[in-house]
Amino acid sequence: MVRLTCVMLLLGLGAPPVAEAYDLEITNNGPITTGAQATVQATLSVKNESVTSDVYHFNWIYAPLILIEKSEQGFNSVINVTGEFPGTFPVSVWVTHRNCWLCRPVARNVTVLQITEFITGNLTIAQIEDSEVVTWGSSSSTGTVTRISFSLHDPSHYFKSASFVYNWDFGDGVYQITKEPFVYCNCSSMGNRTVHLKVVAEWEQIGSIIHEREIMQKTGDFTTALELLDAVKSINIVGSRETHVMENLNLSLHINGTPPLALCWLIKSECIPLEGDKCHLVEISGSCYNLSHTFRDAGQYCLSIRVENGVTMLQTYHGIKVWPTGIHPAFLVLVCIALVSVMLLLVLYTTFRSNTQQKDLVEVADFDFSPLSDEHLSNHSESGCGPLCCRSCFLQSSKEAARESHELRHSFYKPVKMYTQ
Ligand SMILES: *[C@@H]1O[C@H](CO)[C@@H](O)[C@H](O)[C@H]1NC(C)=O
Ligand SMILES: *[C@@H]1O[C@H](CO)[C@@H](O)[C@H](O)[C@H]1NC(C)=O
Ligand SMILES: *[C@@H]1O[C@H](CO)[C@@H](O)[C@H](O)[C@H]1NC(C)=O
Ligand SMILES: *[C@@H]1O[C@H](CO)[C@@H](O)[C@H](O)[C@H]1NC(C)=O
Ligand SMILES: *[C@@H]1O[C@H](CO)[C@@H](O)[C@H](O)[C@H]1NC(C)=O
Ligand SMILES: *[C@@H]1O[C@H](CO)[C@@H](O)[C@H](O)[C@H]1NC(C)=O
Ligand SMILES: *[C@@H]1O[C@H](CO)[C@@H](O)[C@H](O)[C@H]1NC(C)=O
Ligand SMILES: *[C@@H]1O[C@H](CO)[C@@H](O)[C@H](O)[C@H]1NC(C)=O
Repeated sequence: MVRLTCVMLLLGLGAPPVAEAYDLEITNNGPITTGAQATVQATLSVKNESVTSDVYHFNWIYAPLILIEKSEQGFNSVINVTGEFPGTFPVSVWVTHRNCWLCRPVARNVTVLQITEFITGNLTIAQIEDSEVVTWGSSSSTGTVTRISFSLHDPSHYFKSASFVYNWDFGDGVYQITKEPFVYCNCSSMGNRTVHLKVVAEWEQIGSIIHEREIMQKTGDFTTALELLDAVKSINIVGSRETHVMENLNLSLHINGTPPLALCWLIKSECIPLEGDKCHLVEISGSCYNLSHTFRDAGQYCLSIRVENGVTMLQTYHGIKVWPTGIHPAFLVLVCIALVSVMLLLVLYTTFRSNTQQKDLVEVADFDFSPLSDEHLSNHSESGCGPLCCRSCFLQSSKEAARESHELRHSFYKPVKMYTQ
């Protein structure tokens, strides 16, 4: 006892530990029920690499808790403690160099252990949809089956021989008693309600005084607020799938689900599943959101959207084609048609040019048989072929060739015109 107070004095009045070269982390696995055991663990870590590794000693203060076991290994120390009375108990630890008991502690820390006379545990709510379980705090969606389950917190297996009975109160006049630590709630009406659970644990124990069997009992009361919301059922995107560079694209998002909704959107070249907050997050209290975006570069884009309302999460994608400024798809089609026709004309022209002489002859031959157009045709073929033959014989310059081709075309078109008349 004397040593304890000394130690406390040392802890309270002692100068701060040498530099901040050490970290001492301390954790406990509480809360526990009276009579059960809790484990408190302390880990020392050396921050300054230049501190030579040493042998350390862990000193604990846990009174009025009862020590069950203590172990120390290198930079770790673990104690198991138990308590007969409920309350909150601080457990402290400080570390000294082993060979220097009176030296200043190199580090110290404290943790608070909760001990209650009741059963310890948690109520969790999970929503089951298409045999898929989604856990979402205390919110649940209507129309789907909700599983409310109790998880016992008993790290030292204090209740290993106990049998449990669970009394459920769904807050709407419905009660249920089960042997299993879970129930399925067909929550059909929207709104808030409080689910209450009373857990009773019973077990036999051999009395320590007269060694007769006695029935032990512990209880626990748990409540959880159940907020029934509508799941996000759909996201409707109204707006164009095409736009131009530096032009405002206005999209309207209509969401079918209970607000408040957390909407997150991202525009990238490909569709990606949105995770965390790597997108533009907006809180919306209605069911509609207007999104306006201006693109700087042309290309194919994808608008990825995620909507959450604390019950469900839904993702959707919307492809967007961005054209360079001033170019409209219809315009492109026109350009294509024009190009194709020019090509066609060129092909036709070159084909006919290389065969002109032969064709002219063929045509002449044709028209020779036709008695009606005989006069006209012969006139033209004469005026066209006369100088042409001479030129093709005597002139070879390229300039002349160009002019020649011009005349050639005339000589070719004229008979045709005549023919159709
Ligand atoms: C004390 O322990 C807690 C829990 O492990 C830790 O977060 C905290 O940093 C520690 N404090 C010091 C001074 O090491
Ligand atoms: C680490 O320790 C050495 C000597 O013990 C000291 O000189 C140095 O400043 C320390 N470094 C830090 C970052 O604390
Ligand atoms: C101390 O607690 C740990 C973890 O809870 C457990 O594994 C160990 O058996 C306990 N030791 C004793 C002596 O009860
Ligand atoms: C119960 O839930 C609370 C908050 O959600 C959490 O801090 C605590 O660790 C949980 N306890 C157990 C025994 O799971
Ligand atoms: C929920 O509905 C199912 C059938 O749809 C029924 O078997 C079950 O007992 C109901 N549960 C509750 C808690 O009302
Ligand atoms: C349910 O409770 C939350 C806060 O816990 C509140 O914001 C919400 O409006 C409540 N809903 C209804 C329908 O009462
Ligand atoms: C989009 O909305 C803005 C105003 O918010 C407007 O100036 C713009 O003309 C709209 N763009 C289109 C393509 O309707
Ligand atoms: C979205 O835009 C439409 C018209 O385009 C308008 O009627 C509506 O009020 C807008 N909504 C919001 C939330 O701004």
